[in-house]
Amino acid sequence: MASVRFSCVPEITSRVRIGGPGEHQVLIGRLRDSGRNNNNVYFDADNNFVVLEVGKRGSGKSFGMGAALEAFATAADTCSLATHGPDRRGVLLLDPLDIHWTAIYPVQDGVSRHMKEQHKLLARWPDVAVEPIQVNVYMPAGRAQAEDPPAFVPFQIPVTDLTPEDWGMLYGANIISDPAGMLLWELYEKVTRLGYEIGDNHVAPKGVYGLTDLIACLDDHDIQASYSSQTVRAVRQRLRTWHGDPLFQSDTGTAVTDLVKAGQLSILCLNRLSEDMRSVITGVLVRKIQAARSRSSQSERRQAYDPAAGAAAFPVMPRTILAIDEAQMILPSSGGGPARAAIESYILEGRNFGLSIWMATQIPRGAISQKAIKQLDSLIVHRLSNADDINAVQDLIQSGLPQKIKVNDREVDLGELIRSLEVGTAFVSSDSVERAFVMDVRPRVVAHGGKAF
Ligand SMILES: Nc1ncnc2c1ncn2[C@@H]1O[C@H](COP(=O)(O)OP(=O)(O)O)[C@@H](O)[C@H]1O
Ligand SMILES: [Mg+2]
Repeated sequence: MASVRFSCVPEITSRVRIGGPGEHQVLIGRLRDSGRNNNNVYFDADNNFVVLEVGKRGSGKSFGMGAALEAFATAADTCSLATHGPDRRGVLLLDPLDIHWTAIYPVQDGVSRHMKEQHKLLARWPDVAVEPIQVNVYMPAGRAQAEDPPAFVPFQIPVTDLTPEDWGMLYGANIISDPAGMLLWELYEKVTRLGYEIGDNHVAPKGVYGLTDLIACLDDHDIQASYSSQTVRAVRQRLRTWHGDPLFQSDTGTAVTDLVKAGQLSILCLNRLSEDMRSVITGVLVRKIQAARSRSSQSERRQAYDPAAGAAAFPVMPRTILAIDEAQMILPSSGGGPARAAIESYILEGRNFGLSIWMATQIPRGAISQKAIKQLDSLIVHRLSNADDINAVQDLIQSGLPQKIKVNDREVDLGELIRSLEVGTAFVSSDSVERAFVMDVRPRVVAHGGKAF
């Protein structure tokens, strides 16, 4: 590696720190475009942020994102990868490809060719030690396979937090215009808000509902009178199928406060689910994190000022970094269902109460909406070759550009620089640095599962 020479003017002579001037930081890389100054590049660990990481397939996005995320989950508050304050964040990584779970294995010399390769990278970073990282891996209930490591923890969907839109999406029916969708919407309304009639009994609405309630409500007089028996039968059958699926078997599901833990990296494997299911789960989790965090931050704010305030009487939701790899698999540019609306709200409102997001995608255009783009603090660009993608990236750039860019001593424009990036190098733009720069990404200290097997 390190065969391409990058040099940008003016040279950066100081240490580089992106994301803000907070007291604490994580180490993400080393400067690569300022001659002999190969100072460390740090990412601020105190402020809330919106980061987008883009690049073509195999360019090093997941690796770069993983390197940053692991540093937010070091067992020690102070170590060679990071210095953390007392108020650690939790990291939740949504992984549509199931490549990140190998983060449970620390890098070591041996085991396999892949591990040896990763270990060798550390030789050129003498200051970096293989620090213990706190990693939890969640596999959707009912999707575990015998080959999975025993450390995987089952994840259950919080059924009670699904909205009519979610049910409609899972069913594949529009809740406004399709009879089955309208029926799902009406079941939801009756079970959660209105109550329903079975025989001579009135069943009161429930705060926490599950699939058994939706199924019972199909026998409501009004529903039986308003929908064709065919529609009722089809919906009943589908609700029963879900009810038999371990993923849906708990009304409250896996609590977000169990999933997201301060100072830990939790990885949710989504590859064994359908695209619609991924989108619904993402939407539900993002909404729940936002609601739980909003409540916790309110309680923290009161405790900070009110001598009479006691500690929160509910499970505390830590400040959170939501990370989404291959975001286009969860948020396709056409639509994206409930996940897109939830993520947009998370980006626009979340930073007021401690919510950050780190997304990686192959497709920069449409990755985040025009409204949310204004919230983007840092952009990390890996190699791209498609002109359309390069143009899209140029529109997102947050900081000043170098006055002059040279690749292998030849003066080039930004597009050419992006085309020339090698695996392991990235072009970084952030509103908190004077100019965008090229960096070498820090090697990871846990196994990176990005190789094809
Ligand atoms: N910073 C890096 N240093 C060394 N090798 C890297 C680095 N980043 C990526 N690689 C190599 O490239 C492969 C693909 O990287 P990955 O991040 O998984 O690509 P993608 O952009 O598709 O997410 C990795 O498995 C690893 O072998
Ligand atoms: Mg990847």
